[in-house]
Order: sequence, then C-alpha cells, then structure tokens
Amino acid sequence: MSPTESDLRAPDWFRTVVFYELPVRSFYDSNGDGIGDLAGVTEKLDYLRDLGVGAIWLLPFYVSPWKDDGYDISDHYRVDPRFGTMDDLAALVEGAHARGIRVLGDLVTNHISDQHPWFQEARKDRSSPYRSWFLWSDTGKEFSRARLMFPDYEHSNWTWDDAAGQYYFHRFFAWQPDLNYDTPAVHAEMLNFARFWLARGLDGFRCDAVPYLYKREGTKCQSLPEVHQFFQTLRAMMDAEFPGTALVAEANQSVPETVAYFDQGKEFQMVLHFPAMPNFFLSIGDQNPKRVLDVLRATLPGVPGDCGWAYFLRNHDELSLEQVSDEERALFFREFDSTPGARIHNGIRRRLAPLLKGDDSSIVLLTALILGLPGSPYLYYGDEIGMGDRLDLTDRDGVRTPMQWSSGPNGGFSTAPPEELTRPIVTDAPFAPAARNVADEDRQPGSLLWRVRTLLRIRASHAAVFGSERFEGIELGDSPVLGFWRPSAEYRLLGLYNFAPEPATVTVPLPPTVWASPVELLRTGSSSTVVGHDYMARLDRRGFSWTLFLTRRARPVP
Ligand code: GLC
Ligand code: CA
Repeated sequence: MSPTESDLRAPDWFRTVVFYELPVRSFYDSNGDGIGDLAGVTEKLDYLRDLGVGAIWLLPFYVSPWKDDGYDISDHYRVDPRFGTMDDLAALVEGAHARGIRVLGDLVTNHISDQHPWFQEARKDRSSPYRSWFLWSDTGKEFSRARLMFPDYEHSNWTWDDAAGQYYFHRFFAWQPDLNYDTPAVHAEMLNFARFWLARGLDGFRCDAVPYLYKREGTKCQSLPEVHQFFQTLRAMMDAEFPGTALVAEANQSVPETVAYFDQGKEFQMVLHFPAMPNFFLSIGDQNPKRVLDVLRATLPGVPGDCGWAYFLRNHDELSLEQVSDEERALFFREFDSTPGARIHNGIRRRLAPLLKGDDSSIVLLTALILGLPGSPYLYYGDEIGMGDRLDLTDRDGVRTPMQWSSGPNGGFSTAPPEELTRPIVTDAPFAPAARNVADEDRQPGSLLWRVRTLLRIRASHAAVFGSERFEGIELGDSPVLGFWRPSAEYRLLGLYNFAPEPATVTVPLPPTVWASPVELLRTGSSSTVVGHDYMARLDRRGFSWTLFLTRRARPVP
C-alpha cells in the first residue's frame, strides 16, 4: 500500500527516516547522453527503497552554467535541460512518494551565478532595479572581517567588474555574486523560489550556506540576527502553506553558532552536525571515542523536542576540518590522508571508503554510529558500496563521480562512450566498478551493501527507540569502546562501538529499570553475557552491537 500524503508529511517524519544525498548529474543517465538525469533517479527509486532510504536530497537541479556544479543558479524556476523537464521532476516526486520516499531540494539563497539576468542587468545599468540586489563598493575594502570560503581559489570577497564600474561582493567564487538581503525584493524572491518548488511536491530543502546572507561592518558577517529572522520567515511560510515540509541547515560553524539554527524550534528542524563529524573519524584515529561523547553532551541538550541533528560522514564537498583544533587537524591528516593533492580549503577531498583505507568494518562502524544517534542520519550516494574518488579531477569533482551500478562499461552509469561522460568513472582498483558496484554487492551476502542495508532495516523496524530524542553516554574509562543508552518508553537500546583495531571487552552495569534478558538486534563479531546486573561484551576489531532491553514497567503481564 502506498503511503498517503499525511503519512509522508506526519509531524517529525524526519526523526525516523534515513536521508540519502545524491547529485542528479552523477546518479544514473537514462538517455545515454553521458549526463545523469531526473528520469535516471526515477529508474533507481526501487534501489533506494530497498536500501531503506526515507528521503533523498537532490543537489541543485536548476538552470546553471555549472561552474560550481549547480550552486551557481542562472534560472531559479526551471529544471536544467540537461537533467530533463518539469514533467520528469513530477514523475520523480510521484514515484518517490509512492515508495514512501520524500524529496528534498537544495535551496541556494546566498548567491547566484554571474550569468543570471538579475546580475547582468545590475552590472550594466546603475539605475536598474536589480542594482540594489547586490553589494557594490568603490574600494573593495568593506566587510574585511568576513572569512574567505575558498582560500585556495579566491583572495578577496570583492571582485572588480568593468561593466559595473564597481567591485561586487561574493562570499564564495567570484562568479557567484552574493544577493543583498537588505533589499526587500530579494527576500520576497527567495521565498517565492522556495514556494515554487514546494508547490511542485518537494518535501523541503537543505539550505545552502545559511550563515552568510547578511553583512554588517565590523562583524564576521556570519550568523547575524537578521539571518535567523530570514529563515524563521521561510519556515513560518512553509508551516503555513506546506505543512509537514522540512528544512535542514548547512551551517559549518562553532558549536554555539550551529545550535542557534534550531532557535527554539522556530527555524530549522535539522542542522547538519559539522562539529561532530570530524570526531567520528578522529575516534578511529586515536581510539578515544570520548571525544564523540563530549561533542554530543555539548550539543544534544540544546536541541528542541521537535528538532534533531543531521549526522553525516561525507558529502559532496571536501571533508571540512574547520571545527577542530590544530592538533586534531594534524592527527586527521596523519591518520587519513597521506595522498598529495587531497587537501583543499582546510579539509580533505576524499570519499569515505578511501579515507578508511577500504576497510568495510570501519565503514560499517561509522555508519552504524550515525544511525544510532538521536537525530537524522544522512548517507552520501555510493558510500554504501564503498565507492572511491578521483584526485585528478579539479576542486571537489573527484567525490562526485558516476555511481557504480555494475562492473559493466561506465560502471553501468551510462551507455554513452566513456569520453562523453559528465565525469569519468573511478579507476583506482580497490574502489573502481570491478571491485565495488551495486549489482555484485547485491548478490553477495556479507558485502558492504548488504551490511548497510541490514543496519537501515533494523533501525526502521525499531523506529520508536531509534527515533527517541533521549541519549545517555556511558562512562567506560579509557576503553576504546563508545557506549550509550537510547531510552524510550518501553525499551532501552544499548549501543557499543569498538574503535580499536583489535578486540575489546567492556562491562556495562545495567540500570535497575531494565530486565536483564537482552535481545541482540545486531552484532558484528561480538559476544555477550549477563552476570548479575552486569552486561559483559567482547567486541571484535571495529565491531559494534545494538542490544535491546525491555524496561521493567513495560514487562508483559503473564
Ligand atoms: C555550499 C555547497 C558547496 C558550494 C557552496 C557555494 O557549501 O555545499 O558545494 O560550493 O555552498 O554555493
Ligand atoms: Ca542523460
């Protein structure tokens, strides 16, 4: 039976589903022109449903010159023809909804492409109404405290434009002029941009580059109060006109600045957890998972009841190391990145599997971790099969290569000649299609794809406990094991994760509120016994376990 609109838009739906980020361009090419397209995504919806995905986040599919892979929009109200038509989008949304999968778009509000008619008019004519849609300067010296986002490519946030006879401001690439939010028409236009796609069935947005919309002299021009006001207005519009739709923020900031985007439940339902993400990896680096407990203890209490963190391991950008100390960054580079050319913008442009040296147990461990925490996990396409990357491609393109569907030509992504592919296929042997692809992994029980799919199934069949907002970290001394409880009304879930490259043993005292007869939901290479009121587990290298305990008051009456 297909889910109804009210199932899909039930309040808090996002708390129990797994999200899957995908670039339309690289997912599946339905018409053999070498470029992934919307109809291609539609063809692969059964794959996503079988994987257990409850929502997909599509990277920008609007008309764009693709100088920043669609984050440089030149027409907000059309599908890029290389991806298909508005009808293709409608078919994708319909097909997804029929399978219980919501569809998020990417709302890029900070900037547009310099090719956009708004900017073209503004630069040519000082009296154009569009002139005030951008930020101009005669000196290019204002807002000097605003951080450069792409220091490897840009040296200033101001670029001189001959036609305009002035400098214009851009927080990202020079071909992405920032919009001026002090102009009310910009405000209104961006709300219409959101409305337009919500009216076509989208279930919400990942909001791009959230902190930077407003600029004020003397500040770092990030996370200003006006920014919060804008997104609260957007959310209020969505709640009123498209109830049950959701927003997730990309705000790569310090802990307090990031937490602020929940704003008592009035702003974003989800915020991508940039402060936690590097700590998941670092725990493998130094086998000290306390850092994960520390960041969760610092960030979970601030989350309002109907909101949740959005956890991710990798995405379409470099792995950002903005939010860690210099020592931690050094540890990260030492442990995960010895490859020349992998560093970019203070981070690492590599995928999950190469970072973890192709070790499936580590991939499963970290995936199970983000699935086990209170909030919403976001998977990045291809990480479920252990796909690799290409450091020979420029910028972040190497982590956006075609999805590997089979070991056949072009990894089954497209029937076009290889030289016509929108991006080349991964060739690095352990991560290339011959070694890593959906068709083969689908046929091999025990493959990474099977293991990831199993995790999602278990999570979905225990939605009450995984969807609970409650979390209690367990003190395990110097152990390389991370332990936590997820209490819910009837059960307590115990999660144990061994970050060490060798087996580890832990003893967890059981709280008096549980019956000491656990149900192992899943364990990888672990064994356990209960002695009195102690739960003793032995976990394999990089092994983990999810164990369910019935709480005493929920014990069925005989
Ligand atoms: C966000 C996107 C990134 C893009 C940038 C500018 O950080 O994730 O891919 O380049 O915004 O739009
Ligand atoms: Ca195509």
